[in-house]
Amino acid sequence: MNKTGFIFDLDGVIVDTAKYHYLAWKNLAEELGIEFTEEDNEKFKGVSRRRCLEILLEMGGITVSDEQFESWLQEKNEDYLRYISKMDETEILPNVQRVLEYLKERDIPMALGSASKNAIPILEKVSLLPYFKAVVDGNAVTKAKPDPEVFLIAAEELGVNPSHCVVFEDAVAGIEAANSAKMLSIGIGNSEVLSQAAYSFEDFTEMDIEFLDKLVDTLEERIK
Ligand code: BG6
Ligand code: MG
Repeated sequence: MNKTGFIFDLDGVIVDTAKYHYLAWKNLAEELGIEFTEEDNEKFKGVSRRRCLEILLEMGGITVSDEQFESWLQEKNEDYLRYISKMDETEILPNVQRVLEYLKERDIPMALGSASKNAIPILEKVSLLPYFKAVVDGNAVTKAKPDPEVFLIAAEELGVNPSHCVVFEDAVAGIEAANSAKMLSIGIGNSEVLSQAAYSFEDFTEMDIEFLDKLVDTLEERIK
């Protein structure tokens, strides 16, 4: 059994794809005559594609056939895929790779815990896939965040006790999922929005290596 494990959300934590999800939803919303703001988009972060569309239709008071629902889901994803098709290493968020390198050097296993069904192609595009011992994505879970399932599977695949895992998340639903998995949640983004996180940082440039060092030492100390 490994001592500690680190779990990363993907969109908005590792790569700047949250903006592309937003743009693709906004395009569909416009087509449906629904106003969709960045504030509305907060509710979509960490939430499955299917649930996002349900929320959007609820916002517009629209009821649709299953066929139409599937077709809009596909339309949004195709639009999103067009946005991400040109992605490369330049879209890795600042300092993320430094953190991954540091954890790799300390031999700490890392997992991805994301609601996205596009996680593996994105990690490949930005050349970060080799860092992860486990990738748990939207294809692997039956229950979406805030359910802790995604993180619990990740901990199991890492061979780490959930209470010895750290989770980096930019979504309210993700922080809630990490907290209910009894993991240490670290919010990346607005600290007011992510007020339920144990710690929060605007981004990884605000988090120094000393903080990570202390975190790992404290967790390992706790385990002894
Ligand atoms: C999450 C995003 O990571 O993945 C959500 O925060 C998104 O906004 C969800 O809806 C599903 O992503 P995808 O790529 O499967 O549509
Ligand atoms: Mg996210």
